[in-house]
Amino acid sequence: MLEKIKKFFENLETDSLEKQSNFLKNLLNQAKEEGKADIAKGNTVDDLKTVQTKYFGKKGLVPDLMRYMGKVSNKDKPLLGKIIHEFKTDLENHLNQIIADIEKAENNAKLEAEKIDITLPGTNTKIGHKHPLTIVEDQIKEIFTNIGYTVVEGYEIEEDYYNFERLNIPKDHPAREMQDTFYLNEDVVLRTHTSPVQARIMDKLCPTLPVKVIAPGKVFRRDDDATHSPMFHQIEGLIVDKNITFADLKGTLLHLVQSVFGEEREIRLRPSFFPFTEPSAEVDVSCGNCNQEGCRVCGYTGWLEILGSGMVHPKVLEMAGYDPKEVSGFAFGLGIERIAMLKYGIDDMRLLFDNDLRFLEQF
Ligand code: PHE
Repeated sequence: MLEKIKKFFENLETDSLEKQSNFLKNLLNQAKEEGKADIAKGNTVDDLKTVQTKYFGKKGLVPDLMRYMGKVSNKDKPLLGKIIHEFKTDLENHLNQIIADIEKAENNAKLEAEKIDITLPGTNTKIGHKHPLTIVEDQIKEIFTNIGYTVVEGYEIEEDYYNFERLNIPKDHPAREMQDTFYLNEDVVLRTHTSPVQARIMDKLCPTLPVKVIAPGKVFRRDDDATHSPMFHQIEGLIVDKNITFADLKGTLLHLVQSVFGEEREIRLRPSFFPFTEPSAEVDVSCGNCNQEGCRVCGYTGWLEILGSGMVHPKVLEMAGYDPKEVSGFAFGLGIERIAMLKYGIDDMRLLFDNDLRFLEQF
C-alpha cells in the first residue's frame, strides 16, 4: 500500500491535490481496511501494540504520510492535513477501542479466576498446643511476676565455682560425685540445679536491694528412670532484702501452691538440709487425689513432696558481698516436670519428652 501512496505523491503535480483528493482518499481507505485487518488478526494487547507501531510509530505509515506535507503547495497543505488526520483518527479510534475491549476481557477473566466461593467450608488448620512443661513454666512465671519478681536466666554450661563453691557445697559433697554430675572438664559442669543463678544474680546486683528473681531453665543429672531424666527443668526463686523472714518464705510458697493447684490445697514444711540454705525445708502439698485420705499417688501419706527451700545461708550472702547481719533472704527450687506430673496426673516423666502427639494434644 505504501508503494502506491508513494507513487501517487511522486506523480502528483503542484496544485493538483484538490482534483485528485478522491483518489488519495480511496487509497487511504484501502490502507485503513488493511489496518483493520491487521488489528483483527491480533489476539492480545501486545499484538495490537505491534500494529500500533506499524501505523503510528516513528517509522510508521502516518509519520510517512506527514512527510509529504512538504511536497504539496501551501494552498493544498490544509486539505492534505485534513485527509491524513481523518485517516489517522479513524484507524486510531478503532485500534484503541479494540485494545480497550481486550483489556476489559482480560480483566474480567482475571476477576473470574480470582473468584472465591465464600460459602465453602474453611480449611481446618491445626494449630499447635503448648507443651505441658511450657504451660506450667508460663503459669509459675506469671504468678511471680504478678508479685514483683523478675525473670532471669543463667547458664546451662556452668562453672564448678558457681554450681557448687558459691553455694557452700563442700568438695566432698555427694552431689559433686562423677556419678551425679556431668563434668565437661575439671572446672566446668552441666549445671545440676538452677541455684547457681542465685550467686550470679547477687554478684550482678550487689549492693542493690531487693534481689527478687525467679530463674527457670534446664538442669542435668546422671539419672534416668520413670521419675528421673538426665535433663529436666527447674525454677529457682530468690529474694534478698532487709527483714525477710521464714514467714515470708512460707506465705510465698503457700501462694505459689494454691495458685498452681487450687485454693483448697495446703502445704507442709519439713526440716531438711541444703548447704546453701539455713534453715532448710522440704515443702509438701496436700494430695489432691485422695483429699489426704491416703492413696497410691501420695504413697498413703496424704502429702506430695514438691520443692526444696530455705533461708539463704549467711555464707552465700557474704560471698556475694551482702552483709548477713543487715540483709536476709529465702530461696526455693522446684522441678517443673514434677509439678506438671502432679497437676495433670502424669505417672511417667518420659511421656513429657517423647513428644507423642496423642499425649501432647490432651493439654
Ligand atoms: N537446688 C536444690 C535442688 O536442686 C533446690 C533448692 C533451691 C533448695 C533453693 C533450696 C533453695 O534440689
